Amino acid sequence: MHSVVIGGTRGLGREVVRLFAERGDRVSVVGRRPPGDADRGLPGVRFWAVDLTNAAELVSVLDEIVASGGPVNYVVLVQRFKGDGDKWVGEMATSVTATKAVIEGLADRFEPEQSNAIVVVSSVVGQFVADGQPVGYHVAKNALCQMARYYAVALGPRGIRVNAVLPGTFIKEESSAFYAGQIELQALFKKTIPLGRMATARDSANVIRFLCSPDASYVTGQEIFVDGGVSLLSQEALARKLAAL
Ligand SMILES: NC(=O)c1ccc[n+]([C@@H]2O[C@H](COP(=O)([O-])OP(=O)(O)OC[C@H]3O[C@@H](n4cnc5c(N)ncnc54)[C@H](OP(=O)(O)O)[C@@H]3O)[C@@H](O)[C@H]2O)c1
Repeated sequence: MHSVVIGGTRGLGREVVRLFAERGDRVSVVGRRPPGDADRGLPGVRFWAVDLTNAAELVSVLDEIVASGGPVNYVVLVQRFKGDGDKWVGEMATSVTATKAVIEGLADRFEPEQSNAIVVVSSVVGQFVADGQPVGYHVAKNALCQMARYYAVALGPRGIRVNAVLPGTFIKEESSAFYAGQIELQALFKKTIPLGRMATARDSANVIRFLCSPDASYVTGQEIFVDGGVSLLSQEALARKLAAL
């Protein structure tokens, strides 16, 4: 199986790459900067450097990925805009426009008659408001959910499933030291999340691995929340938990 992970060099994307490598996929990883030392030389994994906001370079990297690794089976889009400049413009270019470019650039290059899937990584802020995050992040994440539905219908006849994963805040390697020191924050998550703990990047990576497998053969156009159940609570229920009423 040939899997392409866009934004696979850090955080959640790196966890996905590790899981795909473990199960023996050929993995094409895209990012601006190369992966860290621990992820260099993973069997079957090859890194491609490109800035997703450069449309022409992106097209040529996608061509090279298929020429080198063969037709694709799974495409996961995990990238997150981080940069200087206008956040709205950056979010739209990195999350929305680049996702469309990758999906449409690879749609004709899936391996026929095999398990084929695309996963876009949205966020709970695709549906809810987290006022610490900019409006562009919210709009981009919501757009990804609608793109998953749109492409699920458009690409379904070709056997390509398309789903969105919506994580809540998760601990990743880069943030583990920070959260380990946040005792009050940990206690807050424990109190409010039905599953009683914060998420890890691996929790979402496991869902992505499932969606990118024959086990999810009839699942398409769905939004899968990976938030420990916290979004199930009404505002009142949440307020009562916080106030210990
Ligand atoms: N962290 C959370 O708690 C959380 C919660 C909910 C949802 N999410 C979502 O989960 C996904 C992963 O989050 P994360 O925190 O793991 O992300 P991250 O650590 O910031 O990693 C982002 C990845 O995207 C790549 N990337 C970003 N801009 C790029 C560009 N212009 N061109 C090429 N590659 C680019 C980065 O590579 P470079 O470093 O080389 O640019 C990196 O590999 C994101 O979609 C995020 O919105 C995260």
